[in-house]
Amino acid sequence: MKVLIVGSGGREHAIAASVAKSTKVKEIYCAPGNAGIGQIAECVPIGAMEFDKLVAFAKEKAIDLTIVGMDDPLVGGLVDELEEAGIRTFGPRKNAAILEGSKAFSKDLMKKYNIPTAAYENFDDAKEAVKYLEEKATYPIVLKADGLALGKGVLICNTKEEALEGVKSIMQDKKFGSAGNRMVIEEFMTGREVSVLSFVDGKTIRIMTSAQDHKRAKDGDQGLNTGGMGTFSPSPFYTEEVDAFCKKYIYQATVDAMAAEGRPFKGVIFFGLMLTEDGPRVLEYNARFGDPEAQVVLPRMKNDIIEVMEACVDGTLDQIDLQFEDNAAVCVVLASDGYPVAYEKGYPIQGLERFEKEDDYYCFHAGTKRTEEGIVTNGGRVLGVTAKGKTLKEARTNAYAATEWVAFENKYLRHDIGKAIDEA
Ligand code: AMP
Ligand code: GLY
Repeated sequence: MKVLIVGSGGREHAIAASVAKSTKVKEIYCAPGNAGIGQIAECVPIGAMEFDKLVAFAKEKAIDLTIVGMDDPLVGGLVDELEEAGIRTFGPRKNAAILEGSKAFSKDLMKKYNIPTAAYENFDDAKEAVKYLEEKATYPIVLKADGLALGKGVLICNTKEEALEGVKSIMQDKKFGSAGNRMVIEEFMTGREVSVLSFVDGKTIRIMTSAQDHKRAKDGDQGLNTGGMGTFSPSPFYTEEVDAFCKKYIYQATVDAMAAEGRPFKGVIFFGLMLTEDGPRVLEYNARFGDPEAQVVLPRMKNDIIEVMEACVDGTLDQIDLQFEDNAAVCVVLASDGYPVAYEKGYPIQGLERFEKEDDYYCFHAGTKRTEEGIVTNGGRVLGVTAKGKTLKEARTNAYAATEWVAFENKYLRHDIGKAIDEA
């Protein structure tokens, strides 16, 4: 088979590495890819939002399966365009990717189908939102821009003043652009967060092993929200009891709700869960693998990823027995100092070769580029260093040891990825 992957981050590198292991695959292309992906796939200089060019490329190369990794093209309808051109594609169509593309949609869906989530109200008028905050709200409270905002459109406000300022920045100053044309205001919840990814074929759902992300930039969960600074898998807090609850009230219920709405979901549903005192609640849905969740979940998957993805496309996922290794993995993101605000690019990266020689260690590239001088930094999140271990603690020790193998100027990392393991 010839496979095309759309995206350029650590997640797409992890997907490409899994695809490369498939015995069914002969050629892998990635648009636009990065320096690491370029070692296992042929990178083509087409952006993820250049739909016409992607369709033309897939036709010209007679691609057998296209995998769309990123949220923007999914929400924008790339899958619809590829499928209309006759190209088999893994990922939700536009009318299903709205599960991630509109938080107001996802909240209304959960309410309609009794899927446990925080209490909320939707607003498309700033004045109404202000009135609600003045008259009805209790604090802290959570404001969410409706649309995609690079994972940064969520504001946790401790006081009314902060919340009023938040409404202004989202709905009036349009800090997140048109994503802020609508807004969700929701109840603040507390508890541990867990990411659960799943494969879905429109009607059947198969749950992957759990993971936990670290969204804040600095140690101790301080600093700004980022795309994710590191992950571990499995989450020791995702107990059998939690799993049973989610299977009963959340996972299949979501798939069935989407089908009932005439929006059958095929692809990956990512459940962002909070384990509250009253049980698991959905924080958010994503319509794709997490980044950097994919970097700890996929290396532990035993199945041939292409077989699973084709089953999702064909609607035969009920015949797949999804299996994960009985071990653990930790990913530590190496970022450019200053991320997520401002940072320099273009610094040479040393030491990448070591990963080729060591089993159970992976260096997934995110913001990297190949130049005449070798591979250089080219983004905020630069690399995701993943290691496996028999236990979470062993995986963590291994991952942190491997962060020392690579060097580049302005290298920044959190030192407490997986600290929660000690509390389990
Ligand atoms: P989201 O993009 O919806 O996952 O939100 C980003 C982050 O904001 C989550 O990972 C949580 O840490 C936090 N968050 C979102 N919604 C809530 C909520 N209702 N209560 C508390 N924290 C929240
Ligand atoms: N790591 C969180 C996300 O991919 O949205």
